[in-house]
Amino acid sequence: YPIEQLAVNCDFLETCYLLLNGELPNAQEKSEFDSLVMRHNMVHEQLHFFLRGFRRDAHPMAVLTGLVGALSAFYHDSTDVSNPHHRHVSAIRLIAKMPTLVAMAHKYTKGQPYMYPQNDLSYTGNFLRMMFATPCEDYKVNDVVERALDRILILHADHEQNASTSTVRLCGSSGTNPFAAIAAGVACLWGPSHGGANEAALNMLEHLQANGGVAKVGEFMEQVKDKNSSVRLMGFGHRVYKNYDPRAKLMQETTKEVLMALGLENDPLFKLAMELERIALEDQYFVDRKLYPNVDFYSGIVQRAIGIPTSLFTAIFALARTVGWIAQWNEMLSDPDYKIGRPRQLYVGSSRRDVPKMDAR
Ligand code: SDX
Repeated sequence: YPIEQLAVNCDFLETCYLLLNGELPNAQEKSEFDSLVMRHNMVHEQLHFFLRGFRRDAHPMAVLTGLVGALSAFYHDSTDVSNPHHRHVSAIRLIAKMPTLVAMAHKYTKGQPYMYPQNDLSYTGNFLRMMFATPCEDYKVNDVVERALDRILILHADHEQNASTSTVRLCGSSGTNPFAAIAAGVACLWGPSHGGANEAALNMLEHLQANGGVAKVGEFMEQVKDKNSSVRLMGFGHRVYKNYDPRAKLMQETTKEVLMALGLENDPLFKLAMELERIALEDQYFVDRKLYPNVDFYSGIVQRAIGIPTSLFTAIFALARTVGWIAQWNEMLSDPDYKIGRPRQLYVGSSRRDVPKMDAR
């Protein structure tokens, strides 16, 4: 299915169903799946004590890596990874609980009370409420924001053998607990070359905006092209995509929709990002190297407009990618011939030698 059609015609839970089952759900299947997921979104109360162990200014990805790993200490009833039913239960639990964990990490940072899930809301509407509501007043989900964030989750759901998915596969191939394997994926995604790029891209735009904005773009691009500088155009380039990432175009359109809906159409960062893209796509350095915007280039701007703090962007990416990780983990373990992973290496070190005594070294 073309991602452009999924992002427009489906919601995130339909995409989750597709990734887990290989087919899109019909109305009955969708209703049952949505209800199943929404009935597993609470986490064990004991997890509140895990959060208290973190400093309030801990990076949300440090917290999320810890919380997801900690889930492996709670669910002893479904950790036989050779049992398809156990794998299904773990998949549903992870998809259902990630929004709750991400929202808890956010509330903990802010010093606000956690908001419990509300099952009569949509998956994404419930996440927005857990993130931004307080016990002090009713919270109304903004339909445009809900739809935009749901689309962002779809765009991030799965993407072949990227670094974090390969991490989950390799980790899961030992037969370890599914929550431990997903925690490994969260840890890998955190890196600025991977899922951490959306946070890095927005920080880059804000730094540029604070230091001359569009007028200084030319100077910045010279730094990016200078091999001696460590400056990279975050949100550009890809390990495998050597053309325009279709997700980036959809992300740009979604960003425009949200900014218009929120009266932020003149957002200077969005204008700066589009100017950066225009210049990069015309610059021979980028043309020669087939560097295009990737999924992370615009996602920070729309998440910032929604009110999501920059440090939480990668946690949102992890929330979305959990279904891709767990679907691929399940695919691997469903193969009766699967074996523990063992990447090959070409040894190019010293040839065989004897250990010299200390005084001879
Ligand atoms: C994601 O794998 C996936 O599918 C990942 C992902 C997913 O959905 O899971 O799509 C999500 O991780 C997207 C990528 C997010 N990362 C960033 O936006 C960080 C910035 N990008 C770069 O760090 C880089 O592009 C990588 C890490 C993404 C890819 O690195 P590569 O494979 O080294 O890039 P390349 O081989 O295409 O580089 C070719 C040339 C090199 O220069 P030369 O040595 O040939 O002179 O382009 C240069 C690179 O130095 N280059 C960049 C650049 N990316 C590559 N120069 C400036 N800015 C950049 N962003």
